[in-house]
Amino acid sequence: MNYPIAIAPSILAADFACLGDGIRAVERGGAALLHVDVMDGHFVPNISIGVPVVASLHKATRLPLDVHLMIENPELYIQAFAEAGADMISVHQEATPHLDRALSMIREHGCRAGAVINPATPVSMLSEVLDKLDYVLVMSVNPGFGGQKFIPGALGKIRELKRIRESYNYVFRIEVDGGVGPENVVELVRAGAQILVAGTSVFHTPDAAEAVQAMKQAAEGALAQKV
Ligand code: DX5
Ligand code: ZN
Repeated sequence: MNYPIAIAPSILAADFACLGDGIRAVERGGAALLHVDVMDGHFVPNISIGVPVVASLHKATRLPLDVHLMIENPELYIQAFAEAGADMISVHQEATPHLDRALSMIREHGCRAGAVINPATPVSMLSEVLDKLDYVLVMSVNPGFGGQKFIPGALGKIRELKRIRESYNYVFRIEVDGGVGPENVVELVRAGAQILVAGTSVFHTPDAAEAVQAMKQAAEGALAQKV
């Protein structure tokens, strides 16, 4: 996670029958991470992929795997995802009454630990765990589906997290997920986002490599202007 800005393509929007091609394209474009959306049909109204796919991805790419668990009782699956090759694992604040335990488990299994908040969840719900986090993931759509419209309230939360991190010297990075694309990358980076998850705006384009590269350039440009 040692880069100023990371573009994290979400494979949810890729063609699963040609996943290898999609991965190679985003690698060429300069992606820093691969974002993997795990959905259980309970916490979110959709089912996506699970542990075996993460194990295959781990063999197919050197990109760190950023596993976003949209599942109930995430504690039950952390070990399996870590053993399958996840580098980063995030759990939703809303999905477990044992967030602190889940975060400790992620770290004990050698992964970076992230907490995710839905659009209706305030940043304050994470106040007791901010010192234990490697990253905070701010959802900018209601989780469950790709291709939704960006919810602007996420920008305020990103700014708030950045302010809190500066005041208390926390080290967490700030990730944003949902409706991210060339039209809002600059604003997100200016607000403080450091990891930009993008599915539709990468894979539903004629050239995924070019889409990643363009977003990366825009994000790095915004960062350079900021300092
Ligand atoms: C939504 C997922 C996202 C999704 C983003 O539940 O967490 O990662 O793939 O897709 P886009 O970029 O299309 O909004
Ligand atoms: Zn996601």
